[in-house]
Amino acid sequence: MEAGVQKGRFITFEGIDGAGKSSQIAAVVSMLVARGLVVEQSREPGGTRLGESLRELLLHESMHLETEAMLMFAARREHLAARIEPALVRGEWVVCDRFSDATYAYQVGGRGLAAEKFSVLENWVHPGFQPDLTLLFDLPPEIAASRVASTGADPDRFEREQRDFFVRVREAYLQRACDAAGRICVIDANRPPAQIREEIERLIVERFFT
Ligand code: TMP
Repeated sequence: MEAGVQKGRFITFEGIDGAGKSSQIAAVVSMLVARGLVVEQSREPGGTRLGESLRELLLHESMHLETEAMLMFAARREHLAARIEPALVRGEWVVCDRFSDATYAYQVGGRGLAAEKFSVLENWVHPGFQPDLTLLFDLPPEIAASRVASTGADPDRFEREQRDFFVRVREAYLQRACDAAGRICVIDANRPPAQIREEIERLIVERFFT
């Protein structure tokens, strides 16, 4: 997106599967709407018709790790062009469940994709563009895994991965948070939802409304 064109704000949520992002995303959207803002809520992979079709493949078909990374970014390119960029240009706020930090954590950290290949794709798909704020939900993989299991839903290709995979994903997320400390806020997700919600609201108010 061209510099200076963005008027809205872009907030993303990240974390390993089972970190408890969903209910907090809904709370943030309600909070922003209550302030009179127009908010687009979306998710990745997905967010467009094509992106949702790619999501089906990504979550259920086995594939080479580079195919996986490229499909994540293909879905993202479409999402940026069709929804994220137009909304931001209109001055709306976009709240998205995952973005490129997830590709870094899962494909580079979890699967072992070369970091240089990730950077090539990231610079191709959104050169110079990053979320205004990223909330990284951090918690030990074993706690996250027990939360995923307790839903009773059929696990997808990622949720079926073993503890070691999520240990690597978590480390990569935390590394990325160190590298982008001004943008990524690490949230201790091993606390009662009401406490987490309070912290997130405070962070958003401090960052955007004071
Ligand atoms: P979700 O369950 O949070 O909606 O995300 C779907 C899965 O896709 C989740 O296990 C993380 C994974 N994922 C990646 O591996 N790379 C990515 O770039 C994104 C956006 C998601």
